[in-house]
Amino acid sequence: MGLAGVDNRDVKLIMVGGKGGVGKTTCASAVALKIAMEGRKVLIITSDPAPSLSDIFEKTIGDTETKIHDEYELYGLEVSSDIVLKRWKERFGPEIYEVVSSFARVDYDFVEYIGTAPGIEEEYMLNFIMELVEGGSYDIVVWDTAPAGHTLRLLKLPELFLSHLEAATKFYMNMYGYIEKVKDTVRLRESKKTLLQIIAGWEALSERIVEFIRDRTSVKYLIVTIPEALGVKMTRRVIRELEENSLAVENIVINNVVESADCDFHRLRKTMQEGYIDELIQAYRDKALTILYLAPHEIKGMERIAQAARLLFG
Ligand SMILES: Nc1ncnc2c1ncn2[C@@H]1O[C@H](COP(=O)(O)OP(=O)(O)OP(=O)(O)O)[C@@H](O)[C@H]1O
Ligand SMILES: [Mg+2]
Repeated sequence: MGLAGVDNRDVKLIMVGGKGGVGKTTCASAVALKIAMEGRKVLIITSDPAPSLSDIFEKTIGDTETKIHDEYELYGLEVSSDIVLKRWKERFGPEIYEVVSSFARVDYDFVEYIGTAPGIEEEYMLNFIMELVEGGSYDIVVWDTAPAGHTLRLLKLPELFLSHLEAATKFYMNMYGYIEKVKDTVRLRESKKTLLQIIAGWEALSERIVEFIRDRTSVKYLIVTIPEALGVKMTRRVIRELEENSLAVENIVINNVVESADCDFHRLRKTMQEGYIDELIQAYRDKALTILYLAPHEIKGMERIAQAARLLFG
């Protein structure tokens, strides 16, 4: 057993997901280090609100791309929601303002207001990641996502990406009763674009993101789980939802597995875990399942991350 396909040369993005606390950051770090050690330039990025990369790599990272290995081309980035929202506003603020202010009397503050709507940050995160990948500064990006609920929301959104803006615009325009007549001719105040061009731009971006995250050659999904009832249940749900959205999961890591038991406590745990491991094996015959044993220590610092990588890649 061992991770399959994630270190292929064609892979440009690896997304690591799973329930809270199951070892996502640990696995993402191990994968990133392994690939960097093969001589490629790697960026590991976390969108988790709790900046965990700095802890695991024992190095201050923060919201600028920071080199985290002396020898290899391994970089880290902890993106905060502030940064993501700032970029979102830069990208869409002017257009949104133009569109809305063409038929309603609003201040520019309106953009700030839309920026606080739930889901905006997750939506824009995909765009942010896509730009990083396509920017070509790195051979591969490893994305340590926030705990499952968040990730699911994010992955369900791509089809809807920006469509709420479009829908809102259409709604208002219809209300004003002239969209069909004027949308392709109304030239917006500040820009050379028409309303239709702006909306078409949003739609095109949305389609590009969906295409990007569904590309099975360049994007790999790795789900981390633990052999416990809740872990397995969440995993099944996450994988079902990803696959319903045409996103293929090829790798599952089963973490915190007790390797050998020499006392009743561990024997009981091991037996309990085996049932869930069997369930996962039965359910996911088509996927690569990799076991990561529970270590007697935390996984922190380059040496231990490298050790976890050796276990993951077999
Ligand atoms: N196989 C393992 N053996 C021992 N400790 C582990 C193992 N895997 C992870 N840990 C430890 O468990 C803790 C949680 O791991 P990690 O931070 O990777 O989880 P996470 O899924 O990223 O959590 P969160 O959802 O909070 O971001 C860390 O202290 C890590 O060192
Ligand atoms: Mg984490």
